Amino acid sequence: MSIFSSLRLNAKFNIILASIFIAILVSNAIDDYLRQQSLILRDAIDYSRTMARQIIETRTYLSDVLKGEARTNPALIPQVAATQVALRISKDSKFTIRQVSLRYRNPHNSPDPYEAEELKAFAKGPAREKHQIVRVNGQKVLRYMLPMIAEESCLECHGNYDSAPSYIQLRFPRGHFSYNYHVGEVIGAVSVSIPMAELYRTIGRNLLSDILFSGGLVFLIIILLGSLIRRTIISPVLRLSDSINQVTLTGSFNQRLQAATKDEIGQLITAFNAMMEEMEQRTLQRQESEERYRNMIEMAQSAIVTFLGDGKIVIANRAAERLFGLPTSDLLGISFYDFLIQGNQLRQEIDQRAAMDTAWSGEVVPYVFKDIRGHRTSVELALSATLSAGHRMFTVIIRETGDA
Ligand code: HEC
Repeated sequence: MSIFSSLRLNAKFNIILASIFIAILVSNAIDDYLRQQSLILRDAIDYSRTMARQIIETRTYLSDVLKGEARTNPALIPQVAATQVALRISKDSKFTIRQVSLRYRNPHNSPDPYEAEELKAFAKGPAREKHQIVRVNGQKVLRYMLPMIAEESCLECHGNYDSAPSYIQLRFPRGHFSYNYHVGEVIGAVSVSIPMAELYRTIGRNLLSDILFSGGLVFLIIILLGSLIRRTIISPVLRLSDSINQVTLTGSFNQRLQAATKDEIGQLITAFNAMMEEMEQRTLQRQESEERYRNMIEMAQSAIVTFLGDGKIVIANRAAERLFGLPTSDLLGISFYDFLIQGNQLRQEIDQRAAMDTAWSGEVVPYVFKDIRGHRTSVELALSATLSAGHRMFTVIIRETGDA
């Protein structure tokens, strides 16, 4: 948190904005991906169902229209034709469609381990359309199975050997396991398998281009908003802080800033200008009163000195220059107590009084003054104290009463 709080406003803003956008983007992307994935799966299942129906319909149609042609041409046996149609569809295609049976007639229709499992499950019932995503060599594959149930018409060739047409008896001798089915029994299934990896890869690619596009958009938004924030907030605030620094540095209150807007930042700048105006007025007034005071003390016959609690002289008039034997420039900063024989006594008294009151003017007290050359003079000190900007200041009027 402390690292974040020490960041610049623009960086903070960018980080917050970017995090929000990334969170939205990622959750959107995941949601999108899952949605598309389930959509693709649904499509693939629909597709498998249609293919399976086509195979079944091919067989049904042929068995409806053919009148014994199969006797002379075995390729026209509806099931055989269906097997061949399925083979041709699957050829050069990414998916495969087959008719399978545990008790197959065509070795090509022998089930693979997955199909064998499902056929056994169908035999136990219920025999219903089934789909599942399985992993084959690490790749996701949709397996779809539509069971084929024995009807009365099927038993002509799949029922009793003795009642089967001779061309069937010829190809599948007595005792072949493809006979002896009963109505309602599962003879086999149409099996479709579709590799999903490539389809998922397409979504992945779409997702990537989506993310790149949205990412670019987010980047643009951040840049635009960033420059807006810089123009409307950061630059004015920086200008304000520059001005305040300038005031601290020079002590002059004559700067004004232009409020370009009427919003909160504009209000801040207007308030700043008003404050500067007020400060400028006050400074002027103070300078004026200081000037007046200085003129007044310059006119006085007696030496007048203002000093701080530690004795350090801050104001001295011309009469003081003469009494102390030093020009004002040298007087400022040195201790008034050093010029009194009983300097320590005065210091103690001032310390005591300083603790008590805010402002006072004391009685006139005699002291012995000693100028820079050591010349002693009897004086009377009229002492008063004021409080200015939190500093206690003492002003003393020094009246000479004769040589000491
Ligand atoms: C006219 C005879 C005949 C009829 C009627 C018949 N079949 Fe078949 N069936 C066959 C023959 C022949 C094959 C072998 C196909 C091949 O060689 O590809 C076969 C194959 C199958 C297969 C594929 C597994 C395998 O044994 O190779 C299934 C499943 C099947 N039949 C189900 C049915 C169903 C269900 C019906 C009824 C709707 C039915 N058959 C009606 C002759 C028939």
